[in-house]
Amino acid sequence: MAEKAKVAIFISGRGSNMAALLYAANLPEAAYEVVLVAANDPMAEGLALAAAEGIHTFALSHKGMQRAEHDAAMEQAAREAGAEYIVLAGYMRILTDDFAKRWEGRMLNIHPSLLPNYPGLDTHQRAIDAGDSHGGVSVHLVTPELDAGEVLGQMRVAIRKGETADSLAERVRFAEHQLYPRVLNDYLERAR
Ligand code: GRF
Repeated sequence: MAEKAKVAIFISGRGSNMAALLYAANLPEAAYEVVLVAANDPMAEGLALAAAEGIHTFALSHKGMQRAEHDAAMEQAAREAGAEYIVLAGYMRILTDDFAKRWEGRMLNIHPSLLPNYPGLDTHQRAIDAGDSHGGVSVHLVTPELDAGEVLGQMRVAIRKGETADSLAERVRFAEHQLYPRVLNDYLERAR
């Protein structure tokens, strides 16, 4: 079997997608292993989970730092861990163009809408307000333009009567946990 791709996951909070990616990496067919979980918030919940699972972690608050300086420190942590790919999973930081360019084709993100609809924030409320029949989730390559890189996979989630942004977000998260590991795995299989 070919060697597994080495992946660093960047998070900012709960890290439920990170957990889904981590456990999917334990499946026999997994094309990747997680070599690092890094956060821009030392209190990010997901860090403790990753550590409990024996994954190397790194945390550096972005507060009081220049964006380029913080990016560089995160990037260095990824390189030191031997990462070949960076997977953003609820990483709430806009990256510098240089960082995005250096990792072009090797950095993925998950976004809670059916792109190109609703890049940016408040995606669920915007889909509900527009009267859309479905919200959903997209996994895409990261480019300097926010949420605009090639879409690698999407999953639709029905919007029910009386749906709130929170109730939709909760269901979209189930879809996210199915989609992200699968799309990452397929992408890495194609790359090797
Ligand atoms: C997810 O909804 C993801 O689509 C968005 O941020 C959220 C992260 O949730 N980019 P979690 O930290 O993975 O639980």
